[in-house]
Amino acid sequence: MKASKFFQNLSLGPYVLQNRIVLPPLTRSRSTQPGNIPNELMATYYQQRTGAGFMVTEGTQIEPRGQGYAWTPGIYSPEQITGWRKVTEAVHAKGGIIFAQLWHVGRVSHTSLQPNHAAPVAPSAIAADSNVKVFIETGPNAGTLADPSMPRALSNAEVKELVQLYAQAARNALAAGFDGVEIHCANGYLVNQFISAHSNHREDEYGGSLNNRLRFLREVVQAVAEVVGADRLGVRFAPLFESTEPYRVCRRVNILRDYPDDKIKIYP
Ligand SMILES: Cc1cc2nc3c(=O)[nH]c(=O)nc-3n(C[C@H](O)[C@H](O)[C@H](O)COP(=O)(O)O)c2cc1C
Repeated sequence: MKASKFFQNLSLGPYVLQNRIVLPPLTRSRSTQPGNIPNELMATYYQQRTGAGFMVTEGTQIEPRGQGYAWTPGIYSPEQITGWRKVTEAVHAKGGIIFAQLWHVGRVSHTSLQPNHAAPVAPSAIAADSNVKVFIETGPNAGTLADPSMPRALSNAEVKELVQLYAQAARNALAAGFDGVEIHCANGYLVNQFISAHSNHREDEYGGSLNNRLRFLREVVQAVAEVVGADRLGVRFAPLFESTEPYRVCRRVNILRDYPDDKIKIYP
């Protein structure tokens, strides 16, 4: 491909992208505390990257239980929506297009990150592999990697409530001025946990056959598409994913294998 093609317009749903360069979702853990609220620093960060034709935000938890790393932003409280509006206004002022990545970590969390220090929620009460890590706060601006806590299985009614929480988060994203949303269905998080037979041992209509294990994804996509429109909705997949471990997530396998464990970054 000629280099110049990068700088040609491209249609994406209702939008015309200025070029074909994309900023992927990258967790930064810079939200204001308490409340995981997007802030001026984040608005500056995204505005600086508006030269990309298309941007997807860092993963943003759709509800308090959806958080697996300290200080990641949410998109469920009025303060968070107001905070995200600063980001979208800063991006739009420079002619950029930005989608919000809707994230729920499911079992990849820790009791210290959960409301009332409860167990994280998941399709089944099966802990993530021991090589999966979460990031927890140990003091002001200080944190450490930790093993995810043992999750509890969601009831059937709770699964259906979660579908509605995704739809509500999509409404919040539009209220915050986003141009669309991407549903994070990859890298071992909640939707991926439903799809994978490793983490989903359910016996209701959300488990068992592949068709059943895909039901949660289908319902979330339908509910969110009704809110934002199918032409402003992305779905991020990692179909063969089994675990959130560093070697599996990063392509630079050879470099990482030679790296000391405490220097390896977990990519949310
Ligand atoms: C620091 C960091 C944070 C990331 N955060 C997210 C995230 O919030 N959501 C997501 O879907 N992927 C996330 N990723 C994965 C990236 O979007 C991307 O898929 C990954 O870096 C592989 O692309 P590359 O080979 O071009 O680096 C993250 C990666 C890095 C390095």
